[in-house]
Formats: sequence, C-alpha cells, structure tokens
Amino acid sequence: MKIDILTLFPNFFDGFLQESILKRAIDKKLVEINIINFRDYSPLNNKQVDDTPYGGGAGMLLRCEPIFNCIDQIKTKESYVVLLSPEGKTFNQKQANELKKYKHIILICGHYEGFDDRIKTLVDEVISIGDFILTGGEIPALAITDAIVRLIPGVINNESIISESFNNGLLDYPQYTKPAIYRGLKVPDVLLSGHHKNIAKYRQEEQKKRTQELRPDLMEDKNE
Ligand SMILES: C[S@@+](CC[C@H](N)C(=O)[O-])C[C@H]1O[C@@H](n2cnc3c(N)ncnc32)[C@H](O)[C@@H]1O
Repeated sequence: MKIDILTLFPNFFDGFLQESILKRAIDKKLVEINIINFRDYSPLNNKQVDDTPYGGGAGMLLRCEPIFNCIDQIKTKESYVVLLSPEGKTFNQKQANELKKYKHIILICGHYEGFDDRIKTLVDEVISIGDFILTGGEIPALAITDAIVRLIPGVINNESIISESFNNGLLDYPQYTKPAIYRGLKVPDVLLSGHHKNIAKYRQEEQKKRTQELRPDLMEDKNE
C-alpha cells in the first residue's frame, strides 16, 4: 500500500514516520508513505498557496491550483482521495478497515481557515476525526495513517487485532500484567488459573459487560 500525504508542513511528520510500528512497517516495505509539500505545485511566482475568501470573512483559504496540479500528477486509477475536514464523516475503526483495502490513498491536509470548496470535486471522501477544530489536517492524517497501517497484514500480530476494541462491536477485555498483587489490587483469579477455556469465557463476558456499561451504542450499531 502507498499513502501520499499532501501538506504544507512536511516536517510535522518526521518523528511519526521514524518511530516504532510505523517505522518497522516502512522498513519492511509493507507500506510506502510519501509526504508531499503541495506548495511545490503552486503555479504562482512566489509559490503562494492561499488567498482571501471571496465575499469577505476571516482568515485565508487554500487556493485550488496547487492541490489540483498535485492530484493531476500523483493520482492513478488505483487512488482513493480523502480530504480532511471537520465537515466530513467521523472516522472510526470500520472506516479504517475499508481504507485498508485501497492500494493508494491520498490524504489532503487543509490549513488556515480551510480550502476553496471546489477542491472537494477532486476527492472520493471527506473525513473528520471528530467534532472539534484543529489548526490543520496533519494530526487527522497521522491518526488515519496510523489506524490503517497497523491493519496491514504483517504489521502487527493478527491476534491483537481480533480482540481489540471496536472489532465485532465490542470494547477490549481488561488486561493485567505482573505483579499479581499491587498495593492490595489483585489480578482476577481466573487469569492466574492457567485454564484456557475459563479465561476465554471470562474475557468474552468482560467484553460484553464493559461495552454495555461504557459504550452501549456500539452494541446497538452491531445489532442493526
Ligand atoms: C482551522 S481548520 C478549518 C475549519 C473550518 N473553517 C471549519 O469551520 O470547518 C483548518 C484545517 O484543519 C483540518 N481540520 C481541522 N479540524 C479537523 C477535524 N476535526 N477533522 C479533520 N480535519 C480537520 C482541515 O483540513 C481544515 O481545513
């Protein structure tokens, strides 16, 4: 899979691509991630990318030309183009699983007051990461890239993904590690029993209990 992230702030991604699971996935060539500065595609002499809104109003908007020019150059028949914007559909695990199926994803990060609305004609989907406003699309692009990459086969242990929160409409079960007693807080006996069938049953029950208590909406969505 290839992910191209279009941004005005390429340095933002340095640490993210050079650490931990993402770095390993890139090193193992399970994913290729390109950070593209769309300022390079501005046709204007001073490489300007933004301008004031027609009709007046606060702030600056991203102009069409740099993004259109960049997409013209990098888009292929296999590309799926995503614009990051608070007005989009809220991202979730189901969407991460859908996006994982594409060979080439292009994520466009807005900035400033937003972008010229005609940029939307270029995209397959508009995605938000929640009902709050960030200064730019870089953090949403990081979040979405991370959520997709860890689902690519070979990036992390498949067993971890199966029991994870949101898979099958359930939250994860509670987990513990050593020591078995800490400041009087005990790990449930069943987890120390070595009885695999009972452990599996306990975990399943805990997943349901926890979801019912903390996120009943997930169970309702699943039943629908
Ligand atoms: C300051 S925001 C623009 C907000 C816009 N004026 C509005 O009210 O919807 C600048 C850019 O950050 C990105 N952004 C901010 N919050 C976001 C969110 N919750 N999800 C996805 N992208 C977001 C988008 O790319 C957006 O164009």
